[in-house]
Amino acid sequence: MSSGNFLELCDFSQDELRALLDLSVQLKQLYKEGGRDTCLAGKTMAMVFEKPSSRTRISFQVGMAQLGGSSIYLRPEDIGGLGVREPIKDLMRVLNGYVDVVVARTFGHDSVVELAEYATISVINALSDYNHPCQAMADMLTIQEHLGDLSGRKLVYVGDGNNVARSLGAASVKLGLQFVVVTPKGYELDDEFLAKLARQDGSGSIECASDPAAAVHGADVIYTDTWTSMGQEEEKEKRIKDFTGFQVNNELLSKTGKNPMVMHCLPAYRGLEITDEVIEAQQKAIFDQAENRLHFQRALLKHLCG
Ligand code: CP
Ligand code: NVA
Repeated sequence: MSSGNFLELCDFSQDELRALLDLSVQLKQLYKEGGRDTCLAGKTMAMVFEKPSSRTRISFQVGMAQLGGSSIYLRPEDIGGLGVREPIKDLMRVLNGYVDVVVARTFGHDSVVELAEYATISVINALSDYNHPCQAMADMLTIQEHLGDLSGRKLVYVGDGNNVARSLGAASVKLGLQFVVVTPKGYELDDEFLAKLARQDGSGSIECASDPAAAVHGADVIYTDTWTSMGQEEEKEKRIKDFTGFQVNNELLSKTGKNPMVMHCLPAYRGLEITDEVIEAQQKAIFDQAENRLHFQRALLKHLCG
């Protein structure tokens, strides 16, 4: 691995990401068969979360416990706000002396980068405004389980060019998928990120589009996320208007000309980015995705700290 941290997928080669997926598969099988691997016995994980979380928090804490370790969950009020009561660099230098790994969910990506800069232990990005790498890797594991080989699969992301879209784009380019990101005007992936993706290894591709009905044609996987991410609540009404025509519903799925798998990182806002009908019909894939957060992150913790 190129570093002891897990901040963004572009920091890793395609082979390193494949190795993490392989380890996730191995550990998932072991645990499903009732086996256990307590390689992190006696180790502690601190979770520094500036935003709410269900899946990420629970799956990291369960994964750490299953590896024999323990965890401490720190809400903003517990530490007096990240970078508020004391500088991020001081908090991190204190954590270096107590724990073995830090899992951080932040608003600004610069906060998780600053934690990593002052860390002598591993720092894992559990979502920032910029990206969500653990989510995208669990999603790749899910696509692999449902469709087999990832290579050449057409994954169409419909919605906001946000943190989830960036990590899916990076995972797709690295792992050989054909990634199409279809967004309304003003919500596209930024040029700086697209330029960074163009410099990556991997046989996948990325294409930006603006017409959902045309973009989804031939899709193996349709993916969406909320139109209003955490921290953007004041823009909600404007966003609902701007995303008209970008809902994942049965009409859009019929334009694929296939029977695609539908994915959502959750939480989902039924009636906005996706209909209740589609979620209920696709619940196997969507809740496998949620479960695979545990299987990927357990492998990541073993890899970084084991
Ligand atoms: N998908 C995801 O990260 O969910 P949480 O925000 O509940 O952790
Ligand atoms: N884009 C969403 C993802 C939630 C898991 C957000 O950042 O709120």
